[in-house]
Formats: sequence, structure tokens, C-alpha cells
Amino acid sequence: MFVRRLLVLGNLAISAVAQKFSNPIIYSDYPDNDVSVGPDGAFYFSASNFHYSPGAPILRSLDLVNWEPVGHSVPRLNFGAGYDLPTTGERSYRGGTWASSLRYRKSNKTWYWIGCVNFWQTWVYTASSPEGPWSNRANFGDNNCFYDNGILIDDDNTMYVVYGSGQVKVSQLAADGLSVVKTQDVFNAANVGVDSIEGNRMYKINGTYYVLNDKPGGTTFIWKSKSPWGPYQVKELVKDVKSPVEGGNSPHQGSLIQTADGKWYFMSFTWAYPSGRLPVLAPITWGSDGFPVFVNGDNGGWGKTYPLPLPAKSAKPLTGTYRFEGSSLGPTFEWNHNPDTSKFFVNNGLTLQTASNTTDIYSARNTLTHRVFGEYPVGTLELDFTAMADGDRTGLAAFRDRSAYIGIHREGNAYTIAAVHNMTIDETAGNTLDFGRTVGTAQLRQGVRKIWLRTKMDVRPNGSREASFLYSYDGNTYTQLGATYKLFDSWGFFLGYRFGIFNFATKGLGGSVKVNSFTSA
Ligand SMILES: *[C@@H]1O[C@H](CO)[C@@H](O)[C@H](O)[C@H]1NC(C)=O
Ligand SMILES: *[C@@H]1O[C@H](CO)[C@@H](O)[C@H](O)[C@H]1NC(C)=O
Ligand SMILES: *[C@@H]1O[C@H](CO)[C@@H](O)[C@H](O)[C@H]1NC(C)=O
Ligand SMILES: *[C@@H]1O[C@H](CO)[C@@H](O)[C@H](O)[C@H]1NC(C)=O
Ligand SMILES: *[C@@H]1O[C@H](CO)[C@@H](O)[C@H](O)[C@H]1NC(C)=O
Repeated sequence: MFVRRLLVLGNLAISAVAQKFSNPIIYSDYPDNDVSVGPDGAFYFSASNFHYSPGAPILRSLDLVNWEPVGHSVPRLNFGAGYDLPTTGERSYRGGTWASSLRYRKSNKTWYWIGCVNFWQTWVYTASSPEGPWSNRANFGDNNCFYDNGILIDDDNTMYVVYGSGQVKVSQLAADGLSVVKTQDVFNAANVGVDSIEGNRMYKINGTYYVLNDKPGGTTFIWKSKSPWGPYQVKELVKDVKSPVEGGNSPHQGSLIQTADGKWYFMSFTWAYPSGRLPVLAPITWGSDGFPVFVNGDNGGWGKTYPLPLPAKSAKPLTGTYRFEGSSLGPTFEWNHNPDTSKFFVNNGLTLQTASNTTDIYSARNTLTHRVFGEYPVGTLELDFTAMADGDRTGLAAFRDRSAYIGIHREGNAYTIAAVHNMTIDETAGNTLDFGRTVGTAQLRQGVRKIWLRTKMDVRPNGSREASFLYSYDGNTYTQLGATYKLFDSWGFFLGYRFGIFNFATKGLGGSVKVNSFTSA
């Protein structure tokens, strides 16, 4: 019991008594995984994070079940002006990193990240360690999008990349991995009677080349060939499998992983908004025909539990309190678009100077986000707003393409605690549809310049999907402000809700706030 409780505290996915793990392995939004093994024998998980900066988060695990964020492959989204939220109004919602690939190359001890980024160029970043520093090394030019790509480093050290949506292609890269030397069509979505394919991954297993990919929605395909260039034979690996998460969709895209003792796993994810796309893991076995076979769980679908792949090895907890010690932010934080680095400071607290003069939270720079973890995430901000300027708005949001927040508004010498709902952008085009409505206000107590703000959510796809917003003068007793807000569960924005810590001006720059602590629970 004692052992079990300790492990449960460390990571909810583990149940040590039964020696099983639970899906999702991380109840958080880490989509489009590419999982591979590093030189240290640990597993590395690369994910998409679109318009959040830094881009392409990396997690590490020793047991495939307990994961901790360690860095990002793209330090800054240098892909166009829109990624900086300029005053001219360009924005890059849903741009940035998606369905990219990460691999370690033994021959020169280098990690490669390759991704097609809007607008349709393929970028290569390298690093000698997943923690970084990462740097941009190449761009494959216009009209050369490696759509949903997967890197393979062959036994003879040749680098291949598989990619494509309708027509799937394989490219061979130059010896340094920084340019393309040969490209060939290998198969087409029409070969399996579908309109499009996504999530390409390439492996070499016992001398045979495999491509894993899927039809958007619910079917995983596995292709095999004696040559990277084909011809490929194909089978379905998974079709419309029941999700381990109530209200989640059928997992179908992801990675194949081998453990050191020779067992195989499929890491996929279930679309489960408003939370996001949650990683799920299942074992696979191999048939005598050389194709993998999915192992159903007790539920007849993607199991809610399976035996642990390896002895449990704890990882740093995914939730906790940050007091912003040191001088930089850890890898669990990501900015909405690139931050203005001259407008924030980490030094026993996080100082956020206003970086934009706007009434649109989606155009405001320097909103710091943190993923929500679990079914009922709670975020708490301890905020000192002594240095706020007239017109400034600061607070804590449930942040997505439809957002709501609790915050402080200053108008002249009046400070108001406000709950604001329904700030909305179009989920695909990204233009603002609604600037939000104030649904509750409270007069701040005389002379008070410090407050705790809290956002509580039920992000289960089949749950209440309600968020509530609360404030406290002492960090103990909280008062709800405004009615609950219904979280949006559409998938078109591709990302789930996050906590968003913001501070923007509506009259002029110059003000600031200090975040003494932020707790993600
Ligand atoms: C490996 O190749 C990359 C790409 O050319 C290069 O940047 C890196 O310096 C090489 N690493 C070593 C250790 O040779
Ligand atoms: C690869 O070959 C080894 C040795 O023959 C065998 O034990 C193993 O099952 C094979 N793995 C796969 C995935 O076919
Ligand atoms: C929220 O904004 C959308 C987009 O403008 C609008 O259609 C909807 O009516 C708004 N909802 C509320 C409750 O104000
Ligand atoms: C969601 O699913 C769980 C598990 O099946 C069930 O207990 C719960 O009642 C469901 N909630 C709603 C609101 O449907
Ligand atoms: C800030 O924006 C408001 C509203 O658009 C405008 O009236 C004001 O002049 C701007 N302030 C500055 C300093 O640009």
C-alpha cells in the first residue's frame, strides 16, 4: 500500500501492486509522437505544439510509462513574422510544429529533428543532446514539404525520410543529413482505398523496411519491403479500436518501439478534447508473415491497462509548484507564439511587463502557457500587480481557440477582479470572432495589490467540460467569480486547453506584474 501510494503520487499511470500501467500514459496534450531510443538507452518522445514557442517538445522515459519533459527541438519559431504577433496583426495559430520526426544518429552523436512548417518548408534542427542547445541547420526550400515525416537512419548510416499525404515518398538525405539527394514515390493512399495518409514513420527491423502510417480517423497501416524504395506490401494494424478513454477517439497514429529485452509497443494517442490528444501505449507481437499484430486489452479494444513494459522507473512529477527560481523557464512552459524576450524576467518570480497594446488576448505577446494534466486540472497563480499600469489586464486563462479567464483589470485608479468568457478565434483561420464578455466582477479590497487566481477544469471528453474561475486574498479561501464556462471540445484547432498566464496593455506599455508562484495540479 505504501509503495503503491508513493508511485501514484509520482505518476498516476502506475499501479505497482498489479504491475500494470494505465492509459492514457500521460493525461495531457502531447500529440503526433515519434518515440525512439537514445544513446543512453532511454526513450525519447517528440511531440507537436504548433504555434507554441519553443517548439517540438521532447520527453524522456526509462520505462515507456513515466515521462518527463526535457527540452524542445525548435528554440524559437523563426518561420515568419506572424510567429512574433507583430502590431501589424499577423498571427500563426495552428502553424509551427506538427507531425515531425526526431532521431539520434550514432555515427556523429547528433540528434536530428525534421519538420514541415507552414508555409510548407522543411526544416532541419540538430543538437548533441535532447536538452539542447538546438540549432537550425537546413531548410529544403520552397514546395518541398516533408508532410508528416519519419526519419530512418539505416544500418549503413544512410538517412532516409518517408513523408506524404496522398502520394507517399521516400527521400535519401546527403551524408550530413542536411540536403536531399534522391526522392522516389513509394506508394499511394489510393493503394489502400483512402483519400489521405498521415503520420508516416520508417523503421528497419531484421533487415526489412517498415512504414507505419494511418488514415485520419481510425485505421493504422503497416507497409513492408526489402528495399526502402519498395515495392511495399501492406496490412492493417489497427482499425476503429475502442479508446481506453471514455469519449476519446480510436487511437491510430504513432510510433513502434522496441525495448532492450526485445518486446514491441505501439505508442499512439486518442483525440480527447477539451483535454487534447493523449498518449496511449499498447503491446504488439509479430506474426509469421512478418507483420505486427495489435494486442487487445481486457476491454476488447485499446486496453485501459496492460502489464508494465519494464520495471517502473520514476520520472519527475508532471505537476507541482513553480517559484521561478534561477534565470530561465523549465521545459514544461511554452509561450503563445515567440515571446518578446526583453519583456519578461525570471528571478525568484516571473516578471511580465506588458508586451502588446491590444484588447485581443490572441494578439497579446508573452502569454505563458502550461499544459493541463489529468481529468480535473487546477491552476493557481500567486500574482503581485503593484506595478500594473492604467488599462492593463492580467490574469490566468483557460486558453485555447475559445478561452476564458479570471484577472485584474485596471482603469484609472480602479482595480477590478473580472471573469471574462468566450474570447474566440476561428478554429482554422485564426481570425478573432469574439473579444470576450465580462461575466462577473468583484471590487478589489482597498489597498490590496496581491491576489491568488485559480482556474479549475473538468477536461474529460465525456465529463461536464466546465471550468470555474476563483480568487483568494490569502491563498486558502477561494471565491468563485462568474458562472462556469463550458470548455470547447471541437478538434479543428488541434490543441487542447492550457493554463495561460497573461499581462497585456490596452492604453499603453510600461506596466508589469510579478508571478510569485504558479501551481499546476
Ligand atoms: C554530425 O552531422 C551534423 C550535420 O552535418 C553536423 O552538424 C555535426 O557537427 C556532426 N557531428 C559530429 C559530432 O560530427
Ligand atoms: C528478429 O530476428 C530475431 C532473431 O532471429 C528474432 O528473435 C526476432 O523475433 C525478430 N524480430 C522481428 C520483429 O521479426
Ligand atoms: C461566443 O463567441 C462566438 C463567436 O463570436 C459566438 O458565436 C457565441 O454566440 C458567443 N457565445 C457567447 C455565450 O457569448
Ligand atoms: C464518462 O465515462 C465514465 C466512465 O465510463 C462514466 O463513469 C461517467 O458517468 C461518464 N460521464 C458522463 C458525463 O457521461
Ligand atoms: C493603445 O491602444 C488604444 C486602443 O487601440 C489606443 O487608443 C492607444 O492610443 C494605444 N496606445 C498607444 C500608446 O499606442
